Formats: sequence, C-alpha cells, structure tokens
Amino acid sequence: MSAPVAGAVAVLGGTGCMGRHICAAFAGRGARVVAVSRRRTPVVDAYRFLPMDVVQCTAEELAAVLTAERVDTVVNATLGWGRTEEEMGYTNVRLVERLLDAARSMAHPPRLVHLGTIHEYGPVSHGTLIDEGLPPRPQTLYARAKLTASRMVLDAVRAGLLDGIVLRVTNTIGPYPAPESFFGALAARLRDVAAGEGVELTVADARRDYVDVRDAADAVVRAARSPLADPLVNLGRGEALHIRELVDALVRATGLPPESIRERPGDVAGRSAGADWIRVDNSRAGRLLGWRPRYDVDASMRDLWDTVRPAPPMSSRASSGSPNSATTVLCEVDPARRRRSPGGDGRRRR
Ligand SMILES: NC(=O)c1ccc[n+]([C@@H]2O[C@H](COP(=O)([O-])OP(=O)(O)OC[C@H]3O[C@@H](n4cnc5c(N)ncnc54)[C@H](OP(=O)(O)O)[C@@H]3O)[C@@H](O)[C@H]2O)c1
Repeated sequence: MSAPVAGAVAVLGGTGCMGRHICAAFAGRGARVVAVSRRRTPVVDAYRFLPMDVVQCTAEELAAVLTAERVDTVVNATLGWGRTEEEMGYTNVRLVERLLDAARSMAHPPRLVHLGTIHEYGPVSHGTLIDEGLPPRPQTLYARAKLTASRMVLDAVRAGLLDGIVLRVTNTIGPYPAPESFFGALAARLRDVAAGEGVELTVADARRDYVDVRDAADAVVRAARSPLADPLVNLGRGEALHIRELVDALVRATGLPPESIRERPGDVAGRSAGADWIRVDNSRAGRLLGWRPRYDVDASMRDLWDTVRPAPPMSSRASSGSPNSATTVLCEVDPARRRRSPGGDGRRRR
C-alpha cells in the first residue's frame, strides 16, 4: 500500500473501466477525487463529478477548472475509439493536446499520470520481454494514436515543460470488465447460457500478459506521488499466459464444468489483434514505484465473475445489505457504454 494522498486528483475518464478503479484507489488513500467524463454514471456517485467533453474545452477553460478545483494531480484515463485516424485521434490525441496546453498555461501545473498501452510497442516476436527501451512499432490505428499521445507527454516531460509520467499498461482483468472486452463478453455469455448448453468460442492462439485492473490502479496512485528518474514505466503481470489458460480460469470461477467452452478455430479481432505474444518487463515499475502485482489470475477471474454473474434472489439481496450487488453494477455499465459519440466508441476491442 502506498502513502496517503493529500491533494485533489482529477480523474479524466473517471466513469471508465480503469477510471472507476483509479477513483476508488485515490479515494481509499484519502485524496479528494474529481471525476470527469462526458456522461455521468452511478460509478462516480461517491465523488465530485464534472460533466465535460475535455476536447471541446479551450486550454484556458480547462486550466481554469483545474485551478478552481485545486487539482494537483491529473490522471488521463480517457479512451476514444473509431474507424478513421480522425475519429481515433479525437479523445486519444486531441484531448492530450488540450491537457498539455492547459498545464503550460497554469501557474502551478498539476502532475500528469497518462495511461498509455502496451500495444504502443506493436507486435513483438515470441519470447520478447517488453521493456521500456523497445522501439515502438504500432500497427493498428488505436496503438498509433496512443503512441502519438504518449510521445507528446514524454517530450514535454523530458523538455522540462511538465511534471508527468506515462504508464504503458497491458490488458486488464478483474471486476467490472468492459462488456465488449473479450473476458467481459465471455463472462456475460457464460452467465446467460442455458444449463448444459455451453458456449462456442474462438480462442486466439496467443500468449498475453493480463494484469488485474486494481493492481493497475494502485500503480497509478504510486505514480502520482513518486519522484521518478524516468517518466516511462511499463505495467504488466510479467507473465505471458495462453488465452486458453485465462479462459479456463474464468470457467473455474463460474463453477461451470470445463466442457462449457467448445473451441472453434478462427481469427480474433479487437484491440490486441496481431499481438500473439505479450510479456511485460515490470522491473522498472518495481524499482521506481515499489509496485508489484498482488492479484493472481484466479482471484482476478473470481472477482470479475462476481460483478457479472446473475444477481442473487431478492430475499438474499435484501439480507446481504451490500451496496455493490451485481444488479446495480450491470444496470449502470451497459446503457452508458453503448451510447458512444465523437471519437466513435462503439467498439469491439482487446
Ligand atoms: N481497460 C484496459 O484493459 C486498458 C489496458 C491498457 C491501457 N488502457 C488505457 O486506459 C485508458 C482507459 O481505458 P478504459 O478501458 O478504462 O476506457 P473506457 O472504459 O472506454 O473509459 C473511457 C473513459 O473516458 C471518458 N471519455 C472519453 N472521451 C472523453 C472526452 N472527450 N472527454 C471526457 N471524457 C471522455 C469516458 O466517458 P464518456 O464517454 O462519458 O465521456 C470514460 O469515462 C485508455 O487510455 C486505455 O488506452 C486500458
């Protein structure tokens, strides 16, 4: 556990899959959280919330908001999706331009923790340990846009114009997965399947590094407060697991028999397409942030399943008194995420 956090933290994208855990992690360390996104969802009910399309603000407006809120850390956990370079760049690149311009104009600019992605490195050969020195060669629109934004942040930090850090995060698993993510969608299918029917599934013949989303959020909090020698840190579990192993862990978590999954050959599309091998070198994260992954895959999949599985019957829900019932969670994730607009987020990914 990292040290308590004193000041205010603006989490841009606070309603998102990463953002909700980042808000919770900062709040858990005593920080005042200001969540920002275009649409409010119940995920941010516990925090101050500002409904803003950050791309549509001027740099001056954004600087004025951050100053008025006395924000000393900004986390960029936003994400956009699209089919063209322009759509993909709307949130992924233009929002970062706005943020950097705003920070430059502020008398006391906040520290920026920018979430990049491991996909910025592009496909690597089998066996590669992906460290921060690997030359990025992204192949997809998404990865190229993310690399452009990360480079803008890194250039500003290295030129002494900004206090900030880029975390290149690998794919995540754990509670509240994106419904359209591979494991989020699979968990929903396993929930909805009729008894004894099973699910037919194409499983990529790939080994990838998946980290628990709560571990990633913990690293963000550490990055906000660590005086670092280097502004670029990769984040991952440090293991390349076969997708089939991860599927098996999810099926175990559901309690269904292993034969509930019937494998079907074929290609798999999404954010990670073409990435047949991902294993992250997380030694810099360990050295500079004192970070290490805490959740093993079975724990991540159990907690993922707990947020997707059918709600318990009304009687047991009433007696449990838990504010985090599966019903509450499922209602707020789906509808908001399907109404994606500029930046084209009606996406199929990972
Ligand atoms: N999830 C992962 O497994 C993973 C792995 C590696 C890296 N990352 C990185 O982590 C970041 C977050 O990913 P995510 O999966 O959490 O994304 P997400 O679930 O799609 O959340 C995106 C968030 O950004 C907000 N947003 C989008 N455009 C905005 C705009 N113009 N102004 C204000 N808010 C905006 C969204 O809310 P509104 O749409 O309501 O505005 C939402 O809160 C991304 O940079 C991604 O590359 C994620």
